[in-house]
Amino acid sequence: MSGPAAQTAPPGAASGDVAARAAAGFHAAYGEPPAGRWAAPGRANLIGEHTDYNDGFVLPFALTLRTVVAAAPQPGERWTVRSELSDEAVEFGADEVDEPGRVTGWAAYVAGVVWALREAGYAVPGARLAIASDVPVGSGLSSSAAIEAAVLAALVDLGGLDLPAEKQPRLAQRAENAYVGAPTGIMDQSAVIRCREGHALFLDCRTEAVEHIPFDLDAAGLAVLVIDSRAPHRHADGEYASRRAACERAASLLGVPALRDVPVADLDAALARLDDDEIRRRVRHVVTEDQRVLDTVDLLRAGRVREIGPLLTASHASMRDDFEITVPEIDTAVEAALAAGALGARMTGGGFGGCVLALVDADRSDTVAHAVAAAYADRGFPAPAHVTVLPAPGTTRLD
Ligand code: GLA
Repeated sequence: MSGPAAQTAPPGAASGDVAARAAAGFHAAYGEPPAGRWAAPGRANLIGEHTDYNDGFVLPFALTLRTVVAAAPQPGERWTVRSELSDEAVEFGADEVDEPGRVTGWAAYVAGVVWALREAGYAVPGARLAIASDVPVGSGLSSSAAIEAAVLAALVDLGGLDLPAEKQPRLAQRAENAYVGAPTGIMDQSAVIRCREGHALFLDCRTEAVEHIPFDLDAAGLAVLVIDSRAPHRHADGEYASRRAACERAASLLGVPALRDVPVADLDAALARLDDDEIRRRVRHVVTEDQRVLDTVDLLRAGRVREIGPLLTASHASMRDDFEITVPEIDTAVEAALAAGALGARMTGGGFGGCVLALVDADRSDTVAHAVAAAYADRGFPAPAHVTVLPAPGTTRLD
């Protein structure tokens, strides 16, 4: 991402570099070229926040910012990993992997994938890996899912494992939930693995059915600006878990398997059955957000891309007022983007920091980015970063 004064990078500009860095990192670490390279993108969620673990609907798209894993087999059940994030290689064998908690830090995402594959009964090949990434860490663009997906694709190919792409998200999610210990839903891994270039991924998180929805920004003369709020994550893990618990409690109070089962037409009746105002607001967010996803999909199917703006903005208001997962930096970025002419703007991802996306006329992208930077300066916040993005492909083998 570029700082406020810099030009936004053309989409895909960093891709060649990151792939070359992965190969160079592999060669430097292991003294030979890799057997192959696998790339997995970060993601932005166009709309549908905190709906995935409620069995609802989401509409993410993949970014041109990617994580690349260069890998080659090595004998035995041993895995050696280098990452640009660290000077030290991490090495582990089957014993360490089979005991969640023994491999920690960034390497836990790699060990978690090995663990989840082994737990599912796959004979995972020993491997050497080198990781390079352009997906910023801690910005809510799914850098962790990108590592999981790229490592998973590498191990599946190196071992000739029978694990088709549509089954990979659950396995990567299992690594994240049970090994790393983050109680996330299925959206990020699905987006990172299954997205298609030029499309957003309409995912039913209960059935895992997907529809690739054309999201042709260029044809509409539009751009999506992703603004990194640079807000420090404030208790994000605990707050995420508590939102999830509140939703599960609400579903149980309402006697439904998940909040997805509350139709928007029945929302008022459902809310009337709940005593706690906070729980009512959580429910209202999830139920209305599912409907906003469906409405967004309808507009995109009809080629009416410009008209999704108000839905994005309404989603933000719902996250701010009902789900209470935004922070002042994020709200400032959304307000400034809208005031500068964005057609719609919302926080994307789990919340409490991370990124805002704004749908803008392509020729107003810089104006909007600068307006956000100016609003930040006025409020005394550290300068935000921004990049314009186009919907990119999911996990791919590069060579
Ligand atoms: C994080 C989680 C996802 C999803 C979003 C909120 O990104 O990893 O599973 O719950 O938050 O929509």
